[in-house]
Amino acid sequence: MTINTLNAANKPIKIQAVKGMNDLLPDESALQELFEDTVRTVLRSYGYRLIRTPIVEPTGLFIRSLGEITDIVEKEMYSFTDSLNGDALTLRPEATAGTVRSAIEHNWLYNAPQRVWTMGAMFRHERPQKGRYRQFHQVSVEAMGFEGPDIEAEQIILLARLWKNLGLSNISLQINTIGNLSERTEHRHRLIQYFEENLDLINTDEDAKRRLYSNPLRLLDSKNPAMQTLINGAPKLIDCLKSDSLMHFEQFKTLLDQANIAYTINHRLVRGMDYYNRTVFEWVSTALGTELTLAGGGRYDGLFEQLGGKSKPACGFALGIERVMLIWKHSLSARNITHPKGIYMPLAYIVHAGIGTEKLAANVAEQLRDAHLFCVKHAGADSFKTQLKRAHDSGAMYALIIGETELEKNQVIVKILATGQQHSVSLNDMNALLLYLSSNQEVLGKIA
Ligand code: HAM
Repeated sequence: MTINTLNAANKPIKIQAVKGMNDLLPDESALQELFEDTVRTVLRSYGYRLIRTPIVEPTGLFIRSLGEITDIVEKEMYSFTDSLNGDALTLRPEATAGTVRSAIEHNWLYNAPQRVWTMGAMFRHERPQKGRYRQFHQVSVEAMGFEGPDIEAEQIILLARLWKNLGLSNISLQINTIGNLSERTEHRHRLIQYFEENLDLINTDEDAKRRLYSNPLRLLDSKNPAMQTLINGAPKLIDCLKSDSLMHFEQFKTLLDQANIAYTINHRLVRGMDYYNRTVFEWVSTALGTELTLAGGGRYDGLFEQLGGKSKPACGFALGIERVMLIWKHSLSARNITHPKGIYMPLAYIVHAGIGTEKLAANVAEQLRDAHLFCVKHAGADSFKTQLKRAHDSGAMYALIIGETELEKNQVIVKILATGQQHSVSLNDMNALLLYLSSNQEVLGKIA
């Protein structure tokens, strides 16, 4: 296949990002890093350890784990054949399947349960819109080898803490239980029977018609307005549950009550993958007008066996980073909080011009960094005026100015950018400069 990168006039064609796949721009990244740091801190405080799995996995992994008759597997996967060896491969649409594959392959659950998490790009060929992209990023959190409802309650509490630390309120929690396989089989029979009694309507909906016998549960996900009344009257799974599953759910709810976490039970919450059983949950925000699911997850006790491993109970969730960022930015502006740029603001910006000054400037910069002081040294042969403008734009507290006179005297001019006050400091005693820069502004003002 030849791919044309030149236009008719032999000039390079302007190449743009793939639809639904976004760049993170430098002006956005301070807030993004703050978010990621907040997530990391919260996850660590609950004992979760980082793992990374490949972005590309064998296609069969997703068919086996998510289920053949699901939107993701049927319509949304970026799958391709490896041209070198003919392997069927897929860009991961989610991270749980790869994490379980990794746990089985490397046997990292051999002697104890594990709490792990990962963060990265996922790919789904969906119709792009606000909060829905073809490449998006998730924080995916998995607790493997844990049987009791305390672990899913803990994951909910963890998320509540994350929302609190981000200052987000009004995110509502929906929970449900979808029982075990035999309970779902019973429910499936009842559903098929119920929908068969309404075949006229089912036959008007292509997806519903196709899924009636292959995966009737998915009919409950239908967004088709004509189907909603029928769906509302459908047999409920909870009516098919036996005492073990009911008790698990009761205990889970009690733990949420004890932690003062508000929730609503949504019997129609079934989630989009087939690997779930028992507890499922979603956190939803309506801050932007429409309902946006920020995070979702649940138990997947059968997935290890389904992928050829030893049976292990497990539970997890993923949050959509772009979606949480959307809501967070909205919430920050509603609270009149401007985007924090702090982490990218150097303490000092080093301005230098004149023969031989580059070497001294570089040397001062490295000494500042040795002392853990954050500085940017101007790069390029620009005028003092341009360099000082860059110093202001960087948000630095000081400009350290080195010209030929300073080089000769082995000194630097320290300029407090906010006030314009400046004075010379000798470089013969570097500690004096470091102390000066790292003490607080008030003290500095007095010295200057
Ligand atoms: P999911 O509900 O498919 O679950 O995705 C989790 C979150 O990823 C969603 O709540 C949403 O915030 C975000 N998300 C999903 N699709 C998109 C998209 N196209 N654009 C932007 N954000 C999106 C899972 O992926 C499961 N693996 C979660 C899990 C982990 N269950 C157990 N362990």
